[in-house]
Order: sequence, then C-alpha cells, then structure tokens
Amino acid sequence: MKILVTGGTGYIGSHTCVELLSAGYEIVVIDNFSNSKRDVVDKIKMITNKDFTFYEGDCCDKDILTKMFDKNDIGAVIHFAGFKAVGESVNEPLKYYRNNLDSTITLLEVMKEHGCKKIVFSSSATVYGKPDSLPIKEDFPLSTTNPYGTTKLMIEDILRDLYKSDNTWSIALLRYFNPIGAHTSGLIGENPNDIPNNLMPYIVKVATGELEILSVFGNDYDTKDGTGVRDYIHVVDLSKGHIKAIEKVLSESGIDAYNLGTGNGYSVLEIVNTFMKVNGVDVKYKIVDRRPGDIDACFADPSYAKEKLNWEATLGIEDMCRDSYNYVKNVKED
Ligand code: NAD
Ligand code: UFG
Repeated sequence: MKILVTGGTGYIGSHTCVELLSAGYEIVVIDNFSNSKRDVVDKIKMITNKDFTFYEGDCCDKDILTKMFDKNDIGAVIHFAGFKAVGESVNEPLKYYRNNLDSTITLLEVMKEHGCKKIVFSSSATVYGKPDSLPIKEDFPLSTTNPYGTTKLMIEDILRDLYKSDNTWSIALLRYFNPIGAHTSGLIGENPNDIPNNLMPYIVKVATGELEILSVFGNDYDTKDGTGVRDYIHVVDLSKGHIKAIEKVLSESGIDAYNLGTGNGYSVLEIVNTFMKVNGVDVKYKIVDRRPGDIDACFADPSYAKEKLNWEATLGIEDMCRDSYNYVKNVKED
C-alpha cells in the first residue's frame, strides 16, 4: 500500500515526503513544478536514503492520475497541490478557482473510481476569516476574505458533501497556521524566486542581502507591540502532523478538521528580533502602513489535534528562525 502525495515537491509536501519515508511508508508523488524545482525529488531521496516513484504531471489531468492509480496500490492521498498566494488570487481569481478546485475534483473522481476513499487535505487557518476571539478552535464560524481562502473553504465543503453522500470516506482537513523553518539538512525549504509575500522568506532575503529592507505592515494593531501576531509553526512539526493524520484516516472513516499550530502567537517584531539574535545577522526594517486585508492576530487552540491525532508541535521559534536561514544560506552556497 502506498500513499499518494500531490504537490509533493512543494514546501510542505517535500518535508512530508521525508517524514513519510522515514516512518516507513511507501509513497508515490506527483507535481507539475508550477511552484517547485525538479531537484527536490533527489533531495528527498538524499535525506531519507529511500526511493519512490515520481510523476511529473498536473492533478487536473485525469489521464495521468488514472495511470498512477492503475499502476500503484494507493491506499490514501495527501493533497497539497494548489496555488497559495493570497494577493495573486485577488488579481487572478479564475486561475485559483480553476487550479485548486479542478485538481481536487479530478483527484476525488479518480480516487472514487479506484475505491480509494482516504484523504488528508491541506486547508488553512484562512478559513476562519477574521475570528471574533482567540485562540481559534475548529468549531469557530468559517468565512473567507480572498479567492485563495474561498477555494480552501469550497474544497472543505466539497469534502463534507462527499462524506455525507458516502460515509465510508475518511477525510482529515488540516488547517495550517503559519508554516516556516526548513529541514535541518538544509537541503529542502522555502526560497521563492519572486519577491516574497510572506514574512519569513522576506526576512531571510533581507538577511542575505538580496533585499534591502523589510517593511513591517503596521505597528498600531491591538497586540503586544502593535505589530501583527501569528502562530508560526515549524514545517517539520507540521509534516509530522500529516503522519498522524494519515494514521487516522487509515484507521477509521469520518470527516474532521484539525488546527495545526503551536498555540503561541508571535509579533512581527518578535520574529525579526529572534531571527537577528539566533543567526547573528542584522535585518533592517521600517514601519509602513497596514497591509490591506491583514488581521491583527491569529493563533490556534491546537488541543483537538493533540486529543484526536496525538500530535503537538515541539519546535520553538528559535529553531524556526535558525532553520529558515540555514536553508537559504545553503542554497546560495550551492
Ligand atoms: P507550494 O507551492 O510550495 O507547494 C504546492 C505544490 O503543488 C508545488 O510544488 C506546485 O508545483 C504543485 N502544484 C500546484 N498546482 C498543481 C497541479 N495542478 N498539479 C500538480 N502539482 C501542482 O505550497 P506549500 O506551502 O507547500 O503549500 C502546500 C499546500 O498547503 C497548498 O495547498 C497550500 O494552499 C496549503 N497551505 C499552505 C500554507 C503556507 O503558508 N505555506 C498555509 C496554509 C495552507
Ligand atoms: N508581514 C510584514 N511584512 C512583510 C510580510 C508580512 O510585516 O513583508 C506581517 C503581516 O502583516 C502579518 C505577518 O507578518 O502580520 C505574517 O504575514 P504572512 O504574509 O507571512 O502570513 P499571513 O498570516 O498574512 O498569511 C498566511 C498565509 C496564507 C494563509 C494565512 C492563514 O500566507 O496563505 O497565513 O493561514 F491563508
């Protein structure tokens, strides 16, 4: 029995492939490299010293998915493939609706046709919109503020409807908070080619001198120091959550959502200061206006994942800052 990982050469997918292989799972991976690099396939093999079959292809392509299911005994799927840039989704909503929804519906059809009814889906804390209170629990009301978020909520709804129609499905909706960090090997991580939208990749590029100065979006929020607060989670901890979720979907049917976060909120300035301290580098920053659409604070109550999946994050903010920088320095030295 193999686990299919879609989007498996992406940031979270590649780390999850490492954890799956290390835990003894056989995997088969598909990615179209729309937001990742070919050499990640070899890097995953290098880290784990394990082999797996990789398909270059698009999850909207029913033929390639059918071929994968025909050729491999796929027992469950972890579905990472999708576009994730909030700002781009506002400017190009059709691109997001087409890719995120089409890839998921096509995948679910092929799974159904092959009697594979176990899936772990990459959702996001963005489905909580602007929460009324903190920390966020899974039963909070759901809403979205941008097309990317809407694709995540629509897919959650599709999966809930699918389960209603056939309760032999087994579905885990994983709502990630803010993944940062990288594998300690320095071989895989996140290093966008374009100017980063997210905080940590931007900080790293300022630290390496690729970008001049970080803009801190607002210091007048109702938070400890006025800057935005988020629940940053190490990508390795997050990936380990997927192993627990796979164990869950393999063992029983049902549908459930789980917050994958640490439960700790850190401000932008706390992240910048910790990054400078642990890495011994300077990160120049300036305070600018708030970024439209940002909320003041967002952090999880992760207790449900602990109770139901027996998972909790163990790595701290220092680990996250150190590993994020280590990866990008390593890439630059290559
Ligand atoms: P990523 O862009 O690094 O990885 C996604 C991968 O999917 C990429 O390798 C890309 O090439 C591939 N892909 C995209 N569309 C595809 C398609 N149609 N067919 C085949 N491959 C396709 O992103 P990530 O940070 O690893 O995120 C993984 C998932 O988690 C995404 O669904 C994302 O929306 C979700 N998520 C990410 C975050 C985050 O902050 N990184 C937060 C919440 C949820
Ligand atoms: N920030 C800056 N400067 C930057 C980038 C970010 O000050 O250059 C601030 C933001 O204002 C925010 C914090 O850093 O306060 C984190 O911002 P990110 O862009 O890194 O993350 P977000 O919380 O805005 O969004 C992320 C993902 C979304 C996901 C959301 C909820 O990018 O995909 O978390 O899970 F929907």
